[in-house]
Amino acid sequence: MSELPREQWGSRLGFILAAVGSAVGLGNMWRFSYLAAENGGAAFLVLYIAMVALVGLPVMLAEFVIGRGSGRSPMQALAHFGGNGWRPLGGLFIASGFVILAYYSVIAGWTLRYAIEGAVAGFGGDAEATFGAVASGTPAILWHLVFMAITVFVVAGGVKKGIERTALILMPLLFAIVIGLAIYASTLDGAGAGYTYYFDTSFAEILSADVLKDAAGQAFFSLSLGMGAMLTFASYLSRENHLPNESVFIAGSDFAVAFIAGLVVFPMVFAFGLGDAVSGSTVGALFITLPTAFSEMGGAGRVVGFMFFASLVVGALTSAISLLEVVVSSAVDGLGWGRRSAAIVAGCAIAALGIPAAWNTDILGLMDQIAGNFFLVAGGLALSVFTGWIMTEAMEEAGVGAPGVRWFGLWRGLLRFVVPVILSFVLYHTAVDTWKAIAGFIR
Ligand code: PFF
Repeated sequence: MSELPREQWGSRLGFILAAVGSAVGLGNMWRFSYLAAENGGAAFLVLYIAMVALVGLPVMLAEFVIGRGSGRSPMQALAHFGGNGWRPLGGLFIASGFVILAYYSVIAGWTLRYAIEGAVAGFGGDAEATFGAVASGTPAILWHLVFMAITVFVVAGGVKKGIERTALILMPLLFAIVIGLAIYASTLDGAGAGYTYYFDTSFAEILSADVLKDAAGQAFFSLSLGMGAMLTFASYLSRENHLPNESVFIAGSDFAVAFIAGLVVFPMVFAFGLGDAVSGSTVGALFITLPTAFSEMGGAGRVVGFMFFASLVVGALTSAISLLEVVVSSAVDGLGWGRRSAAIVAGCAIAALGIPAAWNTDILGLMDQIAGNFFLVAGGLALSVFTGWIMTEAMEEAGVGAPGVRWFGLWRGLLRFVVPVILSFVLYHTAVDTWKAIAGFIR
């Protein structure tokens, strides 16, 4: 056990921006708009908002309450409120952080390379061939290692001087860039076709298990839930924070960035007649179609393209920091390691695990399916049962710093009944998908 007093956030804003930074990332900028377009446009938005409100918010508040109440990293926090039998759940969280960061950093490495090379040389050339060269082999490994090194550097700097300071600088910048890009996109000739595609509503499409599964999985991934990232960040809080308000603000900001990213991506893609490519593949919209659009914008394209990829890098970095922090804080609390050595050792191990994903995007996809989908939903289900049924202090802890809130009973009810039912259903369908993905990979 570490004997030092636990680190704390320097300010309320610092914690909030770090948590928003964890939530806002590659998931918002690309996965969300793609899913919305594929699954019924505006109707998917409605379903997604419902999932965030019914499942995401209750689980986020649960993570905050467990983290702040215990002042510990996941394994010890769960043991503190539920006994040692709950430690393995903390182990699942650490495994999720490990695997998700390993492939997340690979994609972040691609975006870093696009940002830098685009700024230096522009976005011309064969976009598909460029993407092929960026996303495979030794170059992909090298940029992944560069991104991991930056992440390790920030986390090694500590909660206040590393994580909080980075979020305070980068998050306002990210908001400004994304809003600026959305305004620019609206001035393009032909932007209207993009909005039509984005908001094309087909309520019939959301009435399927697949879409529900996608919406719930996306809510978990985007809000950084189900693997103790929010729990860990909350463990550095003092007891004054109003956790219910904080949760609503963080989830709202995350949705706002995802929504606005859609207002950037679709008008740009459709203004240049590239709409067909969007529905083709998940990666396509971002890494092949958009550079094509940037190259057709002429002189402005280089600036706009750089800004776009820079905002992705920023979003990815603040998310990667939270993924690494789950592992690092666990090593500090559980093994008594110093923060800096924990960050370096964990960072090297995760970087090594990411190398196969950098080498081959099929491996990357498999890791995303297993950890990014299955582990998070499983973790969220277990957390809701834990907080709803096991942790007797839950309501009391949630009320600390939040006098006068009248809906904690509703919160508990959601965690006990609604969240487990929805997530069991989603977990079943995700398990089937994951099984198919593994079988397909082995074959
Ligand atoms: N929320 C991040 C995104 O949307 O890109 C990804 C993520 C970060 C997932 C941290 C889970 C996590 F713990």
